[in-house]
Amino acid sequence: MKILVIGSGGREHALARKFMKDPMVTEVYCAPGNPGMVSDGIKCLDISIQEIEDLIAWAQKNKIAWTFVGPEEALFNGIVDQFRQAGLKVFGPSQEAAQLESSKKFAKELLLQNQIPTAEFKSFNQLDQAISYLEKQSFPLVIKADGPAAGKGVIIAKDFEEGQKALQEILSDHRFGDQAAVVIEECLTGPEFSFFSLVGAGQTLHLPTAQDHKRAYDHDLGPNTGGMGAYAPVPFVSDSLYQEVIETIVKPTLEAMIKAGIPYTGVLYTGLMLTEDGPKVIEFNTRFGDPETQVLMELVADDFAQVIGNLLANKPTQIHLKSDQASALGVVLAAEGYPNQAIQGSVLDSLVSSKPDSVQLLMAGVTDKDQSLVSQGGRILMAVSTADDLSQAYHDVYTYLDSHPVAHTFYRHDIGAQAIVKEEIAQ
Ligand code: AMP
Ligand code: GLY
Repeated sequence: MKILVIGSGGREHALARKFMKDPMVTEVYCAPGNPGMVSDGIKCLDISIQEIEDLIAWAQKNKIAWTFVGPEEALFNGIVDQFRQAGLKVFGPSQEAAQLESSKKFAKELLLQNQIPTAEFKSFNQLDQAISYLEKQSFPLVIKADGPAAGKGVIIAKDFEEGQKALQEILSDHRFGDQAAVVIEECLTGPEFSFFSLVGAGQTLHLPTAQDHKRAYDHDLGPNTGGMGAYAPVPFVSDSLYQEVIETIVKPTLEAMIKAGIPYTGVLYTGLMLTEDGPKVIEFNTRFGDPETQVLMELVADDFAQVIGNLLANKPTQIHLKSDQASALGVVLAAEGYPNQAIQGSVLDSLVSSKPDSVQLLMAGVTDKDQSLVSQGGRILMAVSTADDLSQAYHDVYTYLDSHPVAHTFYRHDIGAQAIVKEEIAQ
């Protein structure tokens, strides 16, 4: 069986490598992939995620069993609809269903109409109306651009002036592209966690919880990034909280989508906050998280490709974990300057060649130069360890990274640190 993965980052490396491990799979292709994947036997294709017709033609010619879509951009461009129209099996949501991520207004209205717990909100498409609403509110408040904004469209406004500035930037200065609307919502407090569900036509499976670290520097300081590290599972999510998320949030959301005539399939990534009133939805993403996937794939068993194949074929299936006890923790090595102007060209060979067995490397912003692997991009790679507890995984990853410094790169030193303190107190 041949499989195609769409995308080129660490998330896609982790997925493609996991699919390779399934005995049913003969070849895994990644379009466009990156040169760091090749040593795992993954074959990279020189077709970009925008060239949907070329991807379809290639998948047909090469008799691909099914395709897994990594990045949201491809979903928002309707890749799933086009693959399906061409008679190809593909795991992901339709363009319309991907509105759960591509339009915050769509997602919030669906939640509100179906009494699914989330922050209270109002949406506006006129600046003057949004400002007069803001004048009557107390702060802090959260202001969100409706559509995709490269992870920068969420502003926590401490007072009216900050709120007004954010509204102007979104609706009149078009700082985040062409945004049709803005969402103004209540500011929730509490720890955040991510919940991943795999949705087939007739069944839904759930993965362990994960937590991302979005700020660039230690102690959650610095600018927001795509994610600087992650761990799974999240110790403060008890079995009963996990079930509560399924029953009060994930299931009702999927039912609401069916009721709206937009059935959802693919990965549903629910971003949650555990508030004093229980778990509430912060956002939906319609694909796997990066870097959460890199740690999750270390926890799931090697029949994961069969699980996806069964979901696509509507055959009853379940997710197997390698162990019920394991934890995985991963740290992103980023280029100096990221998330702004990232320095490129750091040679990675010595880091890669001295990797111990206890660490896995998932490659993202890398390229080949003079037979060396060098950095090319903000998030370069992620080092992940799996162990019986988070503190051992933390120890393994940091021992490795700390002893192999790479010029013009940096990483956070506190991925999972708060969870480890809590884990130790609980023991
Ligand atoms: P989003 O892009 O919607 O995930 O928002 C990015 C980040 O903003 C989240 O991970 C939260 O840390 C924060 N955030 C979003 N919505 C809220 C909210 N209603 N209350 C507090 N923080 C929020
Ligand atoms: N790790 C955050 C995201 O993938 O959106």
